[in-house]
Amino acid sequence: MFKINENYLKLPGSYLFSDIAKKVKAFGEANPDKKVIRLGIGDVTLPLAPAVISALHKATDEMAVKDTFKGYSPDLGYEFLRSLIAEHDYKSRGVDIALDEIFVSDGAKSDSANIQEIFGADNKIAVCDPVYPVYVDSNVMAGRTGIYSSETGKWSEVIYMPCTADTNFAPEFPTKEPDMIYLCFPNNPTGSTINKAKLQEWVDYANKIGAVIIYDAAYEAYISEEDVPHTIYECEGAKTCAIELRSFSKNAGFTGTRLGFTVIPKDLKAGEVSLNSLWARRHGTKFNGAPYVIQAAGAAVYTEEGKKQTREQIAYYMNNARVIKEGLESSGYTVSGGVNAPYIWLKTPDKMTSWQYFDYLLKEANVVGTPGSGFGPSGEGYFRLTAFGTYENTVEAIERIKKL
Ligand code: MLT
Repeated sequence: MFKINENYLKLPGSYLFSDIAKKVKAFGEANPDKKVIRLGIGDVTLPLAPAVISALHKATDEMAVKDTFKGYSPDLGYEFLRSLIAEHDYKSRGVDIALDEIFVSDGAKSDSANIQEIFGADNKIAVCDPVYPVYVDSNVMAGRTGIYSSETGKWSEVIYMPCTADTNFAPEFPTKEPDMIYLCFPNNPTGSTINKAKLQEWVDYANKIGAVIIYDAAYEAYISEEDVPHTIYECEGAKTCAIELRSFSKNAGFTGTRLGFTVIPKDLKAGEVSLNSLWARRHGTKFNGAPYVIQAAGAAVYTEEGKKQTREQIAYYMNNARVIKEGLESSGYTVSGGVNAPYIWLKTPDKMTSWQYFDYLLKEANVVGTPGSGFGPSGEGYFRLTAFGTYENTVEAIERIKKL
């Protein structure tokens, strides 16, 4: 009789956003007359930028002609896209990243879940608490996290770095030494950031203890403040300790189109073994590349028009963030985030738990958000609203919440 990967049985419940979708669906079925506004999952609502759409059309037409048709993409992604990434995301910030250090993929979610595969099963992971659930769940599936306690909401072998109001929602160095450190800035879910000096301390710490930092910079395009680093490689020594994950979902609305990339510098080594070559091996074996048309669409994001149009989209979402933040603050809520990130992190009123507030908001205001405790035990008593809704819905949602 075959055996299953029993680590899957350790996972409590289903994926956070699937749980929420089920609850919202049930509410909608029971209350068909109510207009539910969804500010839960961080999914974009604006259509793809015109420059992206025209690149998609053009690439699709190329696929219809024998001479320009494309089959499998090169293992690491098309060079035309990797050159643009190296130039616009890195060189423009004073960072040299070689083309063979960039791995184009179908998005940062898959990369953030898969990257743990190239590390030993007995590595200890450290995560922010609260945290994007994929980092922890993928390590659970790999058997790296020990046993789950429903009482504490924690895994026995995971090192948690609480990010609370006391720490300005930033992590502090853990007391136990980790092997793999997951950092995400601007942060999902709290919307917090750290400045370059602080990130440099993390890089120095990882280099000192021989840990790897898995740096999720999916929300980089939302940074508005000067001193916030756009890539971890702005820090000295990061190439010997950090992997960076990037996404086209949030900066260019590719959530349904799927495109991302991972950077693994060749200087990042475990002894003599370069992690770049391990990931190249993994990529070559398990992935056949993001589709040509999507990579061509991604390249359009870097054109002058593409940059202008995607900047306008980001400004639109950040205006929603302002509406949420100012609206809630004026109603007496304690709110953070929303300045360098499209997420607003609020303290639930009247000592409600995160899920109590979720139910309350859904029932009384017909607004969907994400319970903070779904991101980890330190998220209890908090709630996340996304700025990715339409402006009209965002305004209406905040008006409804203010009336409660
Ligand atoms: C979120 O809501 O946290 C994001 O949409 C998750 C993701 O990007 O996969």
